[in-house]
Formats: sequence, C-alpha cells, structure tokens
Amino acid sequence: MSVTTVTPVTPTQSAKVRLRVRRKAQLAKGVCGLVLVDPDGRRLPDWTPGSHVDLTFANGLTRQYSLCGDRWDPHRYEVAVLREPGGRGGSAYVHDVLAEGDSVEIAGPRNNFALAPADRYLFVAGGIGITPILPMLEQAELLGSPWNLLYGGRHRSSMAFLDRLAGWGDRVEVHPQDEHGLLDLSAVAGAPPGTKIYCCGPEPLLTAVREAAANLAAGCLRTERFAAREQGAPVRTTSFTVKLARSGATVTVPPGVSILDAVAEAGVPILASCRQGTCGTCETPLLAGLPDHRDSLLNEQERNSGDLFYPCVSRAASDHLVLDA
Ligand code: FES
Repeated sequence: MSVTTVTPVTPTQSAKVRLRVRRKAQLAKGVCGLVLVDPDGRRLPDWTPGSHVDLTFANGLTRQYSLCGDRWDPHRYEVAVLREPGGRGGSAYVHDVLAEGDSVEIAGPRNNFALAPADRYLFVAGGIGITPILPMLEQAELLGSPWNLLYGGRHRSSMAFLDRLAGWGDRVEVHPQDEHGLLDLSAVAGAPPGTKIYCCGPEPLLTAVREAAANLAAGCLRTERFAAREQGAPVRTTSFTVKLARSGATVTVPPGVSILDAVAEAGVPILASCRQGTCGTCETPLLAGLPDHRDSLLNEQERNSGDLFYPCVSRAASDHLVLDA
C-alpha cells in the first residue's frame, strides 16, 4: 500500500496562495459560482460560517467573497459572484473573463461575521447576501438550535441556491420582490429573547432590519455589508501621531491621509485589501489612545471595548494612538 503525504496549504495573514478555478457555473441570473482548489490537491485551511476570502485576479483586482460551500470539505472553496453593472470591474472580470483552469490568488479565510451561540436564530438574506448565511444554516443545525431564514431577492430567477434551500422546507421563506413585494420583517421585530439575528444584503435591507430590531436586546443583531457604511466627518481635522509599538516608529498622520498610507510611507506596511473598512484585512490591535472608528465592521459594543482598529479608514480622536504594529 502506498501512502501519500499531503501537506496542507497554510496561508498566514500576510501570505497569499494560488488556487485554480476547477469549476465555473451559472447559479442564477447574474450570479456565477466558482469552485476553487489547490493545484496540487493539498487541503485548504479550515474556515467557519461567515468567513470570506480575498481573491486577487490576473488583472490585479482584489475582491472579497463569502465562502458558501461545505465547510467540512477541506479540498475546495466555493464562492458566488453577483454581476454588478455599476461595479468597479471585479464582478465583470469573474463573469466575462475568468475561466475554468485559471489561477487566482487568495488570502484568508477571515471571519468578521462569526456565528455566536444562541437559543435560536433568525437569518435574513437579500440577494447575494445569501452566501455567508448558507453555511450558517448547517451550523445552526449541528448546534441543534432552531432557525428560520427569510430570503428576499428581486426575481426568483436571480436568487441563487433555491434548490439547495428547498430541502429545509418551511423553515425557509423565499420572497421574490416581483411576486410578493418587500420582505415582511415582522419576525425580526417579534423575535423572542435569546434569538440572534444574522443579516446580509444590500444597504436598504440592512437599514430596514436594523429599524425592525430597534427594540430588541443590544447585540442580538449582526449584519454584514457589501459596501462601506456612510460615515460623518472625522472627529478631528488636524494631524495626530501614531506610535507603532512593535517597530518603535512614530508617524504623523496629516488630515486626508489614511493611517495605513502614513505608516506604509514610514516603512511599516500593514496588510490591507478593501481599504474601505469592510473586509477586516487590516485589523490591528489598538493599545492606547482614543479612536475615531470609521469602519463598517465593529458594532457599538465592539467599538466601545476599543481594542480593535481598522487603520485603512479609522482615525484618532485623541492627539496620539498606539497600535500593535
Ligand atoms: Fe479592509 Fe481595512 S483593508 S478593513
């Protein structure tokens, strides 16, 4: 009997690895699915529901996509990509250019939308926002927690994974807007204590769910967004300094320059991807100082606990910050 030793792929925060597109398929109108594998058949790093990967394509564009396949299959990642006509070119590249057999670079997986334990779950997905939710359904099932899913989309034909969801019966409410109008969110407003609500979708849906959940206990709603949240003006309009505890450097950050760029200029690059405060790649522990959080990742509780910081968009409210970089 011959035994083959397979070395797993082990990317770190700063490493990217190359995967191959094994399969590309149309999942719904305007949505294509990719199956990614290691070219040498090695196992891929583990991930948990809610995780995303950064994909960098041959044209240099990097985009984040939620993993939506079977988390227990160590040899393949699956993502689904919505064609965005007004987008910046990433989805058009995936739909029109990327082909089976092509290579993509990946970084991650990284999870900013992890499923916390709960007595029960209510999942709300809009359009392509179904992707991070799909593995959560399996996880909730494994945990033995009751769950329901509200899944809205413009038209039934543009809603991916309906076949996969059909097996869950009436726990899944599929709600195409052209047939039934907007999603009925009364289940959000009436969620019993102990329910955690996970929502991913376009901004109007996130806003509607946030409003419906306004009277529920703090922390019971988690959202993941595709685009950066609208932020007001920065707390301060003058320069501040950032000390980098590990490198020992102190950098002055003028108005209009991101901390990320200022510290890179000083020779301390921090890994980044979206540069919009949505992907979590540049997450850096904050050791001292008063932050002006301007990301779209942290909730109110996490902002108040004050130890995580996203230097691609966040700034200082005090004269001085200390980062663990
Ligand atoms: Fe994406 Fe900072 S690079 S959150």
